[in-house]
Amino acid sequence: MLHASFRLDPTFTIAPVSRRTFGSFVEHMGRCVYTGIYEPSHPTADEDGFRRDVLALTRELGVSVVRYPGGNFVSGYRWEDGIGPAADRPVRRELAWHSLETNEVGIDEFMRWAQKAGVEVMYAVNLGTRGVQEALDVHEYLNHPSGTRLSDLRRTHGSEKPYGIRMFCLGNELDGPWQLGHKTAIEYGRLAAETARALRAADPDVELVACGSSGSSMPTFAAWESQVLELAYDEVDYISAHAYYEPLDGDLASFLASAVDMDHFVESVVATADSVGARLKSRKKLTISFDEWNVWYLKRWEATRKTSEWAVAPRVIEDCYNVADAVVVGNLLISLLRHSDRVTAACQAQLVNVIAPIRSEPGGPAWRQTIFHPFALTSRLAKGDVLRVELRGPSYETARFGTVPSLDAVATHDPESGDVTVFVVNRSLSEPADLAVGVAAFGRRFRIAESWTLADDDLTAANTEDDPDRVTPKPNATAWVEEGELHASLPPVSWTAIRLTQV
Ligand code: AHR
Repeated sequence: MLHASFRLDPTFTIAPVSRRTFGSFVEHMGRCVYTGIYEPSHPTADEDGFRRDVLALTRELGVSVVRYPGGNFVSGYRWEDGIGPAADRPVRRELAWHSLETNEVGIDEFMRWAQKAGVEVMYAVNLGTRGVQEALDVHEYLNHPSGTRLSDLRRTHGSEKPYGIRMFCLGNELDGPWQLGHKTAIEYGRLAAETARALRAADPDVELVACGSSGSSMPTFAAWESQVLELAYDEVDYISAHAYYEPLDGDLASFLASAVDMDHFVESVVATADSVGARLKSRKKLTISFDEWNVWYLKRWEATRKTSEWAVAPRVIEDCYNVADAVVVGNLLISLLRHSDRVTAACQAQLVNVIAPIRSEPGGPAWRQTIFHPFALTSRLAKGDVLRVELRGPSYETARFGTVPSLDAVATHDPESGDVTVFVVNRSLSEPADLAVGVAAFGRRFRIAESWTLADDDLTAANTEDDPDRVTPKPNATAWVEEGELHASLPPVSWTAIRLTQV
């Protein structure tokens, strides 16, 4: 049995919980859009062709903001292909994923879907094959009230009011050689700065995201951020970060510690951005838009990758997630929350079917993958301020990250309701843990309002079409609170959330 403890205090505030931490991502890729969110022939389809079952699960997931329309897709996308009468829209070759894009869903349809889902949209412009003018054009179509060619065109397409999109991503992963229009940091930094200046001239309220590296293992990581920001620091608000994790060579111990890597990644990007700020003698602080993160069995996909025969909505990277994946996802959310002072937006990639918490079958059901649960519970329970946790407890050895803590935790305190919520993972492969959390500093008596643990004796257990609720969080009956201390027992490889409320 492991033993771990920490003490919470309402003054140990890191930052308010940013609702945008609970973002997701819809890319025109595989079956995320077509037969994911949109399937006019599906029994649950609404009057606009959107699957009501997927919409309901999106709401239940607690998604706040959705990045759209890509991803690698956006770097070859012509946004104007997706507006106007459906019959006039061109079918195009989609080069990022080698499929056919029918353009049945475009920006007007997606905005309608977003309204129904109750989510904000983070719009990515194409800075791969396109540039400043197209970014201005799509902004005019989306956000200009009326009286110009493109805003009036939007109105003739049925959207009288501008969409008022605030966050714009200035391209996607342009450091990656796989990206259409791949650029050097200097080429991209100049283009990002020029595009940002133009968008701000049109609309001073936009919030702009410059592309950081597409991963911390890129050979140009940090140098890319540094060079891009030398050129664009004053013009942008965010630098992006992308990270995907998977178990490599069966090394589950390292995989379970993926959040250690995410912590290091975030802190490296912050340090790099701040060093540029210091060199530029700027008082401004950028924050991170962690706009792609998740577990992705990338090696498995690369090994089996087939170039599709220009199919519409082929099955691409439909990873099926297990218990260990859900614990890692829960831990990555702990890492994102812990950095709420500098990570103010984050998007789990993606929403449906493609490396996604929601799965759907054409003409069939939609269901929650294991990773759905920690996301939904964290989004629902993380309220108010994020509190710093200094955890005392055991550690274990990993091949990839050295010695790492066996447990990891973060907490939130909602000053309005007085509720305190603890999110904690036990990464040990074999040992349960006894957790003690001091809460006396809040000066009130608590009771357990709810406590959930996701764990299973079979770490490979997964939710499938035939058994969609095989893995769900269960009430943790071991949790109790008395005399200013919360106690709970945490099974090996588990994710837990416990909400305390005033008696
Ligand atoms: O989310 C899948 C892909 O991963 C995105 O299109 C790309 O931006 C990233 O490499």
